[in-house]
Amino acid sequence: MTSAPMRILSGLQPSGRLHIGNYFGMMESALKLQHEGDAYYFIADYHSLTSVHDGRLLRDHVRNLAIDFLACGLDPSRCVFFRQSDIPEHTELAWILSTVTPMGLLERCHSYKDKVARGIHASHGLFAYPVLMAADILIYDSDIVPVGRDQKQHVEVTRDIAIKMNEAFGEGLLKLPQPRIREETAVVPGLDGQKMSKSYDNTIQLFEELPALKKKIMSIKTDSTPVEEPKPVEDSSILALYKLVAAPADYQAMVDDFQRGGIGYGEFKKRLLQATTDYFAPFREKRAEITANPKFVDQVLAEGAEKARAVARKTLARVRDAVGLG
Ligand code: AMP
Ligand code: TRP
Repeated sequence: MTSAPMRILSGLQPSGRLHIGNYFGMMESALKLQHEGDAYYFIADYHSLTSVHDGRLLRDHVRNLAIDFLACGLDPSRCVFFRQSDIPEHTELAWILSTVTPMGLLERCHSYKDKVARGIHASHGLFAYPVLMAADILIYDSDIVPVGRDQKQHVEVTRDIAIKMNEAFGEGLLKLPQPRIREETAVVPGLDGQKMSKSYDNTIQLFEELPALKKKIMSIKTDSTPVEEPKPVEDSSILALYKLVAAPADYQAMVDDFQRGGIGYGEFKKRLLQATTDYFAPFREKRAEITANPKFVDQVLAEGAEKARAVARKTLARVRDAVGLG
């Protein structure tokens, strides 16, 4: 008997432009996994409503993220790529899940507390965010969820909710997913050395124009070690970012140069700028091609929605039946 292919699922919020932390933290491994199983990737626009309250802006972000995903190598012939709000079944399942979700489980979520601390409005939607995420994952009977480390707790909450559902309505009703975290890039540092994040204003965007990219890289925070002295390699954002975009031998050469002394941070930043530009050049070209063909993007999302919806409807019918709805 042949077993079913592994189902992989992940989503990204369209709440701003994609940055290097998103790319190396989540997107790159998600794109590799599209060759290893049955992949479902989506744009989490229902989730972004918890922080973006401007309809035009949200549509703009959705479109840009769709283009970014395709430019980075998402292959619509290998995976199902869709917009979350095209599948309203997610929200119905979220309601059903919310009725078995203990308040305490949500009260423990770091992400909610962090967002409120950063000034995001503490709405019911923001609090219930992990329940909608659980519905996203469970409605496709997902096996593996590739995410950055900050989303790991949400996948654990999803498992807890699935266990509660199975206890209440029958073992095997919902499948328990596993998070997949790539440890080496679990936290990509930003310009100031903290985690790269839109809300810390320390990001390098993937498709940044050259003058802005240069300005940002040149502004990376460094210590005041004089040029001639060896530089500390621990906790250097320059080295951490360079490792992501440079060939291993070039990375090793930079480590050696740090330890030898005699070269200033300005020179290291120039090398980082060059390597970053080179690394993303093919993506940039592809992005220009896709942008010139808006119909292609619409078509990919429409086809993705149709395929995703067929799966989501089936799971929801199974759950409605088990809980006694309809
Ligand atoms: P966000 O836009 O912050 O909601 O993140 C989208 C995805 O990118 C999630 O899977 C995050 O875990 C991942 N991610 C965001 N920032 C970073 C970072 N600085 N390092 C690693 N992964 C990140
Ligand atoms: N919460 C995720 C983030 O901020 C986005 C997301 C929504 C997601 N639903 C998901 C990720 C389901 C993985 C699976 O990045």
